Amino acid sequence: MMDNKYLVEVQNLQQYFPVAGGKLFEKKVVKAVDNVSFGIKRGETLGLVGESGCGKTTTGRTLLRLYEPTSRKDLF
Ligand SMILES: Nc1ncnc2c1ncn2[C@@H]1O[C@H](COP(=O)(O)OP(=O)(O)O)[C@@H](O)[C@H]1O
Ligand SMILES: [Mg+2]
Repeated sequence: MMDNKYLVEVQNLQQYFPVAGGKLFEKKVVKAVDNVSFGIKRGETLGLVGESGCGKTTTGRTLLRLYEPTSRKDLF
């Protein structure tokens, strides 16, 4: 048994996607996830609830490293 407090801990996760349409020399991004933090302990289940487009899927995919996060501070 690990004595870490959390099995998964995420601090200030950000996932910004570059999108077309920025002005010259300006990078336009969609802030799909912006500073999300949570921890999951052994035996716990975390539910992510929110309106369509609020970043639930992107949070999960980034956790699985299907995307490289723009920024994160996490401990596994
Ligand atoms: N690959 C992508 N490129 C650009 N924008 C994206 C991409 N994936 C998701 N988004 C945008 O990020 C936001 C969050 O999307 P998503 O994580 O799918 O939300 P949810 O799962 O909560 O409905 C939305 O505005 C969506 O349009
Ligand atoms: Mg979704």
